[in-house]
Amino acid sequence: MDRLRTLIRLCSGLGLLVAGWMGCARAPGVEVPYVQTPSEVVMEMLRLARVTPDDVVYDLGSGDGRLVIAAARYFGARGVGIELDPALVAESKKIARRAGVAERARFVEQDIFEADISEATVVTMYLSPSVNARLRPKLQSQLRPGARIVSHDFPIGDWAPERVVQFKGPERTHALSLWTIPSR
Ligand SMILES: C[S@@+](CC[C@H](N)C(=O)[O-])C[C@H]1O[C@@H](n2cnc3c(N)ncnc32)[C@H](O)[C@@H]1O
Repeated sequence: MDRLRTLIRLCSGLGLLVAGWMGCARAPGVEVPYVQTPSEVVMEMLRLARVTPDDVVYDLGSGDGRLVIAAARYFGARGVGIELDPALVAESKKIARRAGVAERARFVEQDIFEADISEATVVTMYLSPSVNARLRPKLQSQLRPGARIVSHDFPIGDWAPERVVQFKGPERTHALSLWTIPSR
């Protein structure tokens, strides 16, 4: 089972690399190429984080804004997407307006390492093993106790998740991992 999980992670890591080599749109300074989380997987990530209307959901590297928009639209939460690519930020704002959630879904063109994420009660991310590992000190210092983190496919260094769900998407199985910030 562990071998299978490792294989799945390797495959999705390779998927991100191949996407990068194939020249997927990438703004300057962006280390992780733009690959969308399928909508079924988006919903499962938000369910795993137990998102409610009281939550503030931050998606780090928000792409076209789908995690934040779904959190606002289907879970009644407020959300913020942090994304380095200006074209994706503009696209996210357009989709949020069309979905009628623009007042609850905000998008910021910013580097995730520069962003203040302290108001987040839920953080979602689909990045890479190395970027996740570099984010760990920021997640642990800025987030409040009880905040949940869900990572699509990749670990956060050697920080043991409290739960890992293998979710069957339209084309492959996705590993979704959950952490909760402990009380200090
Ligand atoms: C794999 S995509 C995930 C998109 C979206 N979160 C989803 O799950 O569909 C990663 C996104 O992170 C963005 N990104 C990568 N490095 C970033 C950084 N340092 N700051 C902000 N955004 C970044 C990329 O531009 C890309 O849109």
